[in-house]
Amino acid sequence: VIITQGQYVASAVKKDQYPENDLPEIVFIGRSNVGKSSLINSLTRVNNLARVSSQPGKTQTINFFEVGLKIAEVEGRKAFYLVDLPGYGYAKTGKEKRKIWSKFIEEYLLTSQRLQFVCQLIDIRHEPMASDVEMFEWLVKNNIPVLIVATKCDKIGKTVRQRSIAAIKRKLGVAELSVLPYSSLKNEGRSDLLDVIGDSLVE
Ligand code: GTP
Ligand code: MG
Repeated sequence: VIITQGQYVASAVKKDQYPENDLPEIVFIGRSNVGKSSLINSLTRVNNLARVSSQPGKTQTINFFEVGLKIAEVEGRKAFYLVDLPGYGYAKTGKEKRKIWSKFIEEYLLTSQRLQFVCQLIDIRHEPMASDVEMFEWLVKNNIPVLIVATKCDKIGKTVRQRSIAAIKRKLGVAELSVLPYSSLKNEGRSDLLDVIGDSLVE
């Protein structure tokens, strides 16, 4: 699976701002600062495609990036969107703002016609927090397919990594869940994630 392009298409906080081109969508969700935007840059190998910051709360809108994939077994190129979302669980975001967040994100997640699956990102160094568990359960309840991606795996050693992944599964209450370790810094997990994306697009 080879990525052939990555470009910014649109930012939206309501329906009429979604891009007109109707392509399959892969969505990234997770707490502020967990590394959603960095992962999009790592996948596409386009630096600064999605804006990254060490301060949480950087991404404020639903951002669509158009990407092309070449899959060995399939003729031609598959175009789709990587969709970057604002983070949840950011303490400094006021209550009022949080309500608006959940409203426009919820509307998007519940009405998108071509959503393939959601990648829920969880920092591999920390146990999932209450907001992560809530989000995961909400996605499952609404029949939205989820892949858990454990981010920043360059920050811990291999043995601790296995323990952290087990802790994530335990906390989310699903033993047979697949959790994909990822490092945007080292591009680790990149080809695995591209394979999952490729599979979701040819099925
Ligand atoms: P919001 O837009 O605020 O919700 O954050 P985000 O989830 O998009 O996080 P972002 O990609 O902006 O990254 C947050 C910080 O984590 C930045 O300082 C990144 O450089 C850092 N970071 C992201 N991914 C990795 C990674 O794989 N390894 C390491 N070491 N740092 C990372
Ligand atoms: Mg971001």
